[in-house]
Amino acid sequence: MTADLFAEPSSPAERAAELRAQLHHHAHRYYTLDEPEIPDAEYDKLFRELQAIETAHPELLTPDSPTQRVGGRVLDMFTPVRHAVPMLSINTETDTEPSGARNFDTRVRRALGLSEADPAVEYVAELKFDGLAMSLRYEQGVLVQAATRGDGEVGEDVTTNIRTIQQVPLRLPADAPPVLEVRGEVYMRRDHFDALNEKQRAKIAAGAKGEKTFVNPRNAAAGAVRQLDSGIAAQRPLSFFAYSWGEVLGDENPPATQYDWLMRLKAWGFPVAEQTTVAVGADALVDFHKRIGESRDQLPYDIDGVVYKVNALALQKQLGFVTREPRWAVAHKYPAQEQFTTVLAIDVQVGRTGKLTPVAKLAPVFVGGVTVTNATLHNELEARRKDLRVGDTVIVRRAGDVIPEVVSVLLDKRVGDPPPFTMPSQCPVCGSDAVREEDEADHRCTGGLFCAAQRKEAILHFAHRRAVEVEGLGDKLVEQLVDSGLIKTLPDLYKLGFTTLAGLERMAEKSAKNIVAALEKSKHTTLPRFLFGLGIRHVGEATAKELARHFGKLDSVMDASVEALSEVNDVGPVVAQSIHTFFEQPHNREVVEQLRACGLTWEEGEPAERAPQPLAGKTFVLTGTFPTLSRDQAKDLLEAAGAKVAGSVSKKTDYVVAGTEAGSKLEKAQTLGVAVIDEAAMLAMLASGG
Ligand code: IVH
Repeated sequence: MTADLFAEPSSPAERAAELRAQLHHHAHRYYTLDEPEIPDAEYDKLFRELQAIETAHPELLTPDSPTQRVGGRVLDMFTPVRHAVPMLSINTETDTEPSGARNFDTRVRRALGLSEADPAVEYVAELKFDGLAMSLRYEQGVLVQAATRGDGEVGEDVTTNIRTIQQVPLRLPADAPPVLEVRGEVYMRRDHFDALNEKQRAKIAAGAKGEKTFVNPRNAAAGAVRQLDSGIAAQRPLSFFAYSWGEVLGDENPPATQYDWLMRLKAWGFPVAEQTTVAVGADALVDFHKRIGESRDQLPYDIDGVVYKVNALALQKQLGFVTREPRWAVAHKYPAQEQFTTVLAIDVQVGRTGKLTPVAKLAPVFVGGVTVTNATLHNELEARRKDLRVGDTVIVRRAGDVIPEVVSVLLDKRVGDPPPFTMPSQCPVCGSDAVREEDEADHRCTGGLFCAAQRKEAILHFAHRRAVEVEGLGDKLVEQLVDSGLIKTLPDLYKLGFTTLAGLERMAEKSAKNIVAALEKSKHTTLPRFLFGLGIRHVGEATAKELARHFGKLDSVMDASVEALSEVNDVGPVVAQSIHTFFEQPHNREVVEQLRACGLTWEEGEPAERAPQPLAGKTFVLTGTFPTLSRDQAKDLLEAAGAKVAGSVSKKTDYVVAGTEAGSKLEKAQTLGVAVIDEAAMLAMLASGG
């Protein structure tokens, strides 16, 4: 079926039928398949168009019209629950300007028969969370049932899944009424959503079948709530906000306002959004909409608007309902976070660490409050899974500060047969080989020493204290040197003279002198430090040391075959391949030669047998100041004896070596019952061979 949104209707009856078919189709895509083809706002637009036709021509209304049900479809797999008090929907104010709030106040005042001389109406202003509505039933203070809204009358029993939500109290304090239904929104925080999708992408990359990423937090939350396996549901972290109530029996102390109700729910342990506030009169509502709209991006979760409710429950009662919507509440929306646009091109960008990311270049579109022209496609697998092609019509989404994403591709709108996306086998920035390792999703450029995209990272890594230490060469200076074009590759570092350095902005003469001295000093290094400093993927300090010992000379490492590299201790096939590919890149080799020509030297030797490893398999954590050794020296000694030195204490730690002024790590060791020793005991252990 085509989602022909732009067709001219020939008659209201035909258009209504068309809309119904489209809405049925999209509701199925959204609720049942979790694969929407149109943005939410577009669905709402179609829905409202149908509602308008049905209001103008009541004879066209059919019982199966999508307008006749409030929410999603009731799936067969969960037990149906009839709500004791129906779960209602609220009317939407579609004017997304803050001033749209005045329309609601005007309607309320008119319905209450208030004149201009009468005082302002008191409201509660809340956030409109973008998740799914849930009714939590407590009997004698115990959570007995959680139900989705369903069609408003009958929902689904999802108690087991909802029990996995940490924020939902399982038991209430003694002053809660014997029967209480708390209503609110189950949602997924954006960081949890991103982490979940990251995990899903990794599973897909590892070849898992039947896995997919989720289009937005609401979709992911709905999927988790309706997950039949509550073990899986528990792995998809959900959150909850309370905003209303359903059946309440035996309440001895019923509040008189919406706000007091919310504060009571808060006191009983339910999360209530801190932004919730009492707002008196239309101006206060306008301010609220504006203020929340400005900070919407900073919220850790999605909202699609705010909600205003008349505060006094007596007035709510007086106002009552029109059809199924309360006259005392309204949802006031913000601009949509999803929009249609078209794909102009698919570029590949290279990150600081060499990761290649396909990026869709889009026809500019205003979404989530900004104009979007790019959307990340993450990696080749994702790009192919979405099957995005140049010229395609897509839905893009931008929520919060996160990078815009392509939610889905409208295959129906594809023109012709554009070729599918393929990842280039060469880095688009430097031309080095781009490779994807087994079980990894990302392609990476292997020209780390030469690639312009990786310059800053490569220099910082090279100059690191535990690599070819260049004291004083930090983040800021590297940034400045690279951005001004003074340094393109590592050897340029050694061509910087005092005059050039001292001429830099914010650079004092003394600092420039120090850097020149540090560079000079760094020329006398060691082979392990140099190898580590090259920033070869998977080559950490320990591997660099093993490589140096095993081969003795840099040239032997550079010319070693994958097989020869695999013979080195702790070097598996992936690491061996990574080292081999690195030295296969002519540009990387050139940089190494230039560094040697700049005067970098180290002692070379013959291949050596591995020193005895008396502490192999043991994990140490160092803390505090030692009497004779520096922390780095202690680390080197331990590692040379085969031990692992970790940064934090866990149950897996064998020994914590504590000096003076040892802090939280020592405390942690004591709580976990990890052995604590001092420097002398550590040295004795090293001398006696463990
Ligand atoms: S009040 C009778 N308050 O928006 C009033 N709803 O159609 C019942 N929603 O799906 C709803 N935040 O899940 C209310 N602060 C809030 C809300 C809220 C989100 C959702 C609700 C429902 C829809 C309203």
